Order: sequence, then structure tokens, then C-alpha cells
Amino acid sequence: MKDCITCMRMVKSFLMLLRKKSETLYMHSIYTGNTAGMIAAALEFEPDQMRDVQTAGFLHDIGKLCLPDGLLLKDSNLTSEEFGLIKTHSKVGSDILRGVFKNIPIYILYHHEAYDGSGYPEGLKSSNIPIPAKVLGIADRYTALISQRSYRAAYSRRDALREVEKDIKGFFNGNSKTIEKVLLSLSEPTEQLPPDDLPLKRGASKELPVCLQDASEFIRGRMSPLE
Ligand SMILES: [Fe+2]
Repeated sequence: MKDCITCMRMVKSFLMLLRKKSETLYMHSIYTGNTAGMIAAALEFEPDQMRDVQTAGFLHDIGKLCLPDGLLLKDSNLTSEEFGLIKTHSKVGSDILRGVFKNIPIYILYHHEAYDGSGYPEGLKSSNIPIPAKVLGIADRYTALISQRSYRAAYSRRDALREVEKDIKGFFNGNSKTIEKVLLSLSEPTEQLPPDDLPLKRGASKELPVCLQDASEFIRGRMSPLE
């Protein structure tokens, strides 16, 4: 990301669009970005890549803005046709951002791929999925689990970790050190989550937009505590 100030302004604008559409979607985006940044930091990504992964987390569901409102706000009992429409969001989001960012659209395109090839949009096997997209997918799933939904309570961090552990092991098959780092980064105590500006400050001199700093205030306290 070359012109960082301009790009971060665009990120802020996209986030505001998400917030206009759905507070839940906005919060999920903020939290996914921060969690993806934490995992990337734990895996010692280069600063630029760490920032790209975090930004991809903030924008990973931007394609959902193109879904009908009724479908976007419906979070259970989807028909197969509706689920088919939802599944278009990773490609649509990637297309929207293709002219703005270099790597982020690729990470977003593949954030719903699964290690066993059962994901979408291309059904890639683990070895063909870019590592930043794996990080993004793990962060997306984990943060969704520990957040409350209208149709279920938030998972505890411990239960959510159990849920995503299989994915992490599948994605980083055979690399026990990497698996351990990812699991450890997700099991940080609540008060250290989310470190909104940690990956950016650690890796680069650019600061997060004010809207992202503000967002942490209401995200804190809505996440389930570590049991
Ligand atoms: Fe998604």
C-alpha cells in the first residue's frame, strides 16, 4: 500500500458504508481486522504484509454491501439460493477493491476457502490458498464465533478456539510452531484485545484512522471473556 494516508481514508469511508448498512457487520469487520493483524504479527509477517492483512480484515465483507438489505440482515435459516447469493460476496468485494489495492483483493477473494477444498469461491486446497488469506479466514471465523448473534449466544474464547483449531491445523499442516503461534495469538486475554494500532505501529509509522480507534471502545466489553 503506497499512498497510505489516502488508502486509510478510503478504508475509513468503506467502513462508514458498512456501518450505515449494519452495526453488526461494521463491528465484525473492525474486530476481524484487528484479530488478523494480531495473527500476522504472531507469525512475524513483514510490516507491509501485516498492514495489508489487517486492512483486508477491515474490508473482507465489503462485497456484502451489494446484497439485498433483507438478505444482509438475515442471519439464520438461509435457503440454498440465499446462501448462494451470500457466497458471491468474497468475489464481489475483491472486484470492488481491485483498482485500489494490490494484494488485499486476493486475500479477500480467498477468505472463505477451506483447507480441505470445501470452501468458496474456487474450492482451493490448502497448499493453493495464500497464507494471508488463511490468516484472514481464521480471524473471520474466530471473531464471528466469540460475538453474540441474534440466534445464538457468543462462544467463550476457549470454545471458539476449539472450533477453529481444526481449521488452523488443516491450513498449517505439519508446522506445529506456526499452529502454536496462531493458537496463542487467539488466546490472548480480553484486556489485550483488540490491539487496534499494534500491528501498524509495530511495523510502520502510519497510525490508524480515528474511526478505528473509536471503534475499539464499544467492541471491548461485547466480546466474551476468557474462561
Ligand atoms: Fe466473508
